[in-house]
Amino acid sequence: MTVNPTLLRELPADLKRERLPRHVAVIMDGNGRWAKQRGLPRIMGHRRGVDALKDILRCCKDWGIQALTAYAFSTENWGRPAEEVDFLMTLFERVLRQELREMMEEDVQIRFVGNLHALPRSLQKEIEYSMEQTRQNRSIQFTIATNYGGRQEIIQACRSIATQVQQGLLQPDEIDEALFEHHLYTAGISELDLMIRTSGEMRISNFLLWQVAYAELYVTDTLWPDFNRAEFHQALSSYQQRERRFGKV
Ligand code: IPE
Ligand code: IPE
Ligand code: MG
Repeated sequence: MTVNPTLLRELPADLKRERLPRHVAVIMDGNGRWAKQRGLPRIMGHRRGVDALKDILRCCKDWGIQALTAYAFSTENWGRPAEEVDFLMTLFERVLRQELREMMEEDVQIRFVGNLHALPRSLQKEIEYSMEQTRQNRSIQFTIATNYGGRQEIIQACRSIATQVQQGLLQPDEIDEALFEHHLYTAGISELDLMIRTSGEMRISNFLLWQVAYAELYVTDTLWPDFNRAEFHQALSSYQQRERRFGKV
């Protein structure tokens, strides 16, 4: 059966509202392969990837998912050819500028996570502005991981905790999981329930290493630019069929 993705504005009837994930993360992989299959330059895949992300964000909002976190650029992605890196930085900046008004109208709270200081200055400014403007929005928390690395995130949390210990504000035995989470970029966002990776690779690629501990994983062969509401529906159906045991019987 083919489903017209544009018709899926309501939560599909087979999904249980009370068992939706609160927080979904997406590793948006396969933009390059999508373009290559069409004989297009890789950057065209990134462009189409933005459209896919916009629709999944709106879908999360329509269906009542509280938080979406998207992996846009990893600390390792600097190793790509300079033209591709430059294109991505310019793309992030342009999209952010173009979409901010709509994000406000749709009550989306935008947050960027990662080592943001290493990004181009003009992008940093756009990021700061969008986070400031959308701070009070409550319909959905939309987090974009840019120059993000899970190991780097854990190290910066350790540094921040160590500084507090050094200043005498904290005792080492006060450091527990809850306190540690408070120092991660995702502080204040619900527990991660579902991590989706497109394009078939069975790896985490340094994304949300701490947060993924008990998340359910869903990998699809679909390339990110082709990931739509029907595909997301499948991921959520799979999620709702899982038995989450958290180490118990
Ligand atoms: C993911 O798509 C987007 C980014 C990493 C920015 P890729 O660019 O990794 O696409 P593939 O994996 O080469 O197909
Ligand atoms: C993960 O995709 C990073 C993003 C989606 C931004 P990559 O394409 O960089 O991951 P690897 O190289 O396949 O592990
Ligand atoms: Mg890739």
